[in-house]
Amino acid sequence: MSVKIDERLKHIAFIMDGNGRWAQKRGMPRYYGHKYGAKKFREILEYCLDIGVLVTTVYAFSTENWTRPKKEVDAIMKILDSYLDECYDKKDGYDVHYRFVGDMSLFDGYEGGESIIRRMNELDSLTFSKTRTINIAVNYGGRDEIVNAVNRLISEGYSKVTKDDLASHMYTAPYPDPDLIIRTGGDLRVSNFLLWQCAYSEFYFTSTLWPDLTTEEVDKAIEEFYSRKRRYGGV
Ligand code: IPE
Ligand code: IPE
Ligand code: MG
Repeated sequence: MSVKIDERLKHIAFIMDGNGRWAQKRGMPRYYGHKYGAKKFREILEYCLDIGVLVTTVYAFSTENWTRPKKEVDAIMKILDSYLDECYDKKDGYDVHYRFVGDMSLFDGYEGGESIIRRMNELDSLTFSKTRTINIAVNYGGRDEIVNAVNRLISEGYSKVTKDDLASHMYTAPYPDPDLIIRTGGDLRVSNFLLWQCAYSEFYFTSTLWPDLTTEEVDKAIEEFYSRKRRYGGV
């Protein structure tokens, strides 16, 4: 562990991209990449906890990823399913609040979806009092999140809203916006991730495919983050 985290870096988010290409490069089916991606996800989360990051968010499955072949979606859901079981086993010895951010209703109608929703909600409430947080974005879409926030505000009787009202109705509330967003896989885009929250985030893009990401490269991204001057529109 070489980097030191301070109050400037409370929240790191990851767009975990490149699993499919990683597998294809090896002549393997895409789900093989998701399997290795899931291993990497555990390693990187563990590392973020070790170095003292307060909030870590990972983009695991987007609202648009349902358009993928059923076989691939099923493989990802299977990985999520076994990860949930693992979280249950680990939760007591672990200072982590598990949160699942996204439109959970999208699991309705998916075989086994009900059990996934139930366990995600249970894990969230059972780990609520821990000091570190992991937001796992599943069935997540940034535009969907903003629309959901507006609809909740309407149902609460609001006819006019402020930025604070909207912010407090985002899936990620009450946590601070991501300071640093790391995207693997080589593409220079946000792909509908944390659209509201990324207004002043620092981005680190790397062509490294997610299963190949190393903790050394996370250190490099963090060092680069600390070398930047965040101006927030000022001077
Ligand atoms: C990211 O890897 C994981 C998910 C979107 C679920 P991809 O599956 O998008 O991998 P590439 O980008 O096709 O290589
Ligand atoms: C973003 O990756 C979503 C996740 C990492 C879960 P995608 O592979 O879905 O993004 P695009 O399609 O390249 O924009
Ligand atoms: Mg991709």
